[in-house]
Amino acid sequence: MCGIVGYTGKRSAAPVIVEGLKCLEYRGYDSFGLAVTDCESAAKSDAGGLAVIKKQGRISDAGRDVTLLNGNTGIGHTRWATHGVPSDVNAHPHTDCTGDIAVIHNGIIENYAELKRSLIAEGHTFKSETDTEVIAHLLEKFCNAADADGLIGEERIDFAVKSLMETLEGSFALLILIRGFSGLIAIKRFSPLVLGIGDEELFASSDMTPILEHTQKILFLEDDDYAYLMPEGIRVFSYPSGDAVEREVKTVDWDVESAKKGGYDFFMEKEIFEQPAVFVNSFRQSIDDKAVSVLKKASSITVVACGSSYHAGLVFRYLAEKYCKIPVRVEIASEFLNFAIAKGTAVIAVTQSGETADTLAALRHAKASGCPVFAVTNVLGSSVTRIADHVLYTRAGPEISVAATKSFIAQCAVLMRIVSVLGKGIFEKELFEIYPVLEETLLFDPAGASAVCKDAENIFYVGRGVYYPISLEGALKMKEITYIHAEGCAAGELKHGPFSLLTPETPVIAVCTKDASYPVMISNIKEMKARGAPVIAIGSAGDKDLKEIADIFIPLPKSENICEVISATIILQMIACNTAVLLGRDVDKPRNLAKSVTVI
Ligand code: F6R
Repeated sequence: MCGIVGYTGKRSAAPVIVEGLKCLEYRGYDSFGLAVTDCESAAKSDAGGLAVIKKQGRISDAGRDVTLLNGNTGIGHTRWATHGVPSDVNAHPHTDCTGDIAVIHNGIIENYAELKRSLIAEGHTFKSETDTEVIAHLLEKFCNAADADGLIGEERIDFAVKSLMETLEGSFALLILIRGFSGLIAIKRFSPLVLGIGDEELFASSDMTPILEHTQKILFLEDDDYAYLMPEGIRVFSYPSGDAVEREVKTVDWDVESAKKGGYDFFMEKEIFEQPAVFVNSFRQSIDDKAVSVLKKASSITVVACGSSYHAGLVFRYLAEKYCKIPVRVEIASEFLNFAIAKGTAVIAVTQSGETADTLAALRHAKASGCPVFAVTNVLGSSVTRIADHVLYTRAGPEISVAATKSFIAQCAVLMRIVSVLGKGIFEKELFEIYPVLEETLLFDPAGASAVCKDAENIFYVGRGVYYPISLEGALKMKEITYIHAEGCAAGELKHGPFSLLTPETPVIAVCTKDASYPVMISNIKEMKARGAPVIAIGSAGDKDLKEIADIFIPLPKSENICEVISATIILQMIACNTAVLLGRDVDKPRNLAKSVTVI
């Protein structure tokens, strides 16, 4: 994963980069580092011609010395460890033997072990355990080869960059400083990297949030592009030809403020409270006629996704099968390559970031197999949008908290829109009018439920029908931010095994609205109670029976069944968030996780 930021312009680079990295901490936060050129700082000795500072810990905890690095071109990194433990030495940037080259990297170099062995045999000395360090040493080797051939200036750099791209296997977004080259080098293959064009200043970043503070003009690089960010502007080239290419510059109208906390203690809380508007904006969009006709012609639909996005796919399955009579499969993207794809299948990748490596691989596989491919994503210009034939955007705006909340709700909205379109307008009226229902949902006080959950070691989440994926999502939220083991289960499955785990210390959160499954859910809840488990039941407004059976009854606002699906999800998010706060967890940045999972 990892977040990368680059800057070149008239300002001092380090403070711009540090602020940018703070926006990208959701991508990784175990260590950070910066390299800046033209620097007289004390850190200079570490890297010869470039000033480099790198440390274990979070950029938000970095001292002032980082911002004092002197120079107007620089690169910075916030890390999510893949190769080597979080430590000062494994933090990026990585430098070559001379200290004239500094590299930051997001992605994985798959052939790094063999490259490292041969570089060591050639006399290179490595300092870290990372895959990234081979890049700095390779560049040193290729620059030396260019020198030996008498290449100078940009020809020397071209030779080194192209040789590097020929040698590396895997995924990489790279920002590179090379002493003597008065600019920033950006390279992209299968990892996200966008460029920003400001007033006499240029930016590079893993996503556009750090850039939007400074400019709305965003240039999206394509895979195998490399670019030089120089005082006179950006030039983009395509590997392997080396031909200069024009990439479209888009004006992005995301609100900068929506990428900040705006009075809330945590991004997760803020993002939960944005959901009424997010749902409505995402649902109220029209779907392109061509896309609709491809879906209508398909004999079945397969959704590929990971994590919360996978759960949104399951919600879609329950609704599309029932109301549109379309066979739908939902596959965990990382497992998709194991299965045959039926003829006539349309494949939809659901991915907030648009960069999840497993989801991209699954969609590429579907496309190569001749399927029409769709993307439901939140990020304009993300990698998935370049693979898909048809793109449907969720309108969640930037989601910063690692745990998905508003992006999940937005995915449900877009997928419900598809159901509505294919189902001849089903749910349209109810969901167009959902806003006040969701506003009312947010008045819920999660204190009582959280007080029970915070002392538990295990929590079960159960539901039937569409509430089965909602239970999975509720459990995922709870486990990822509180570190309490939480398991989502189809309510009917508990008695096939998990019942043995029920005790008076094992709360069960049951979602049981007055839909078709209601009578049997009530029986299931009674069975759980009989095994001594405390039950927190989320149900329809005014349900006296459920209130009587449950230890805690949480009534949803009075609304249509389909709206209750969204309300119940929000309640589960609020319980998880509040429990994490009570336990003193780092709500927005849970341990071991990163928001954008760009490695397989
Ligand atoms: C959970 C969460 C993850 C993501 C998953 C897929 O709260 O955020 O499970 O849903 O990593 O990410 P995207 O949707 O970006 O493909």
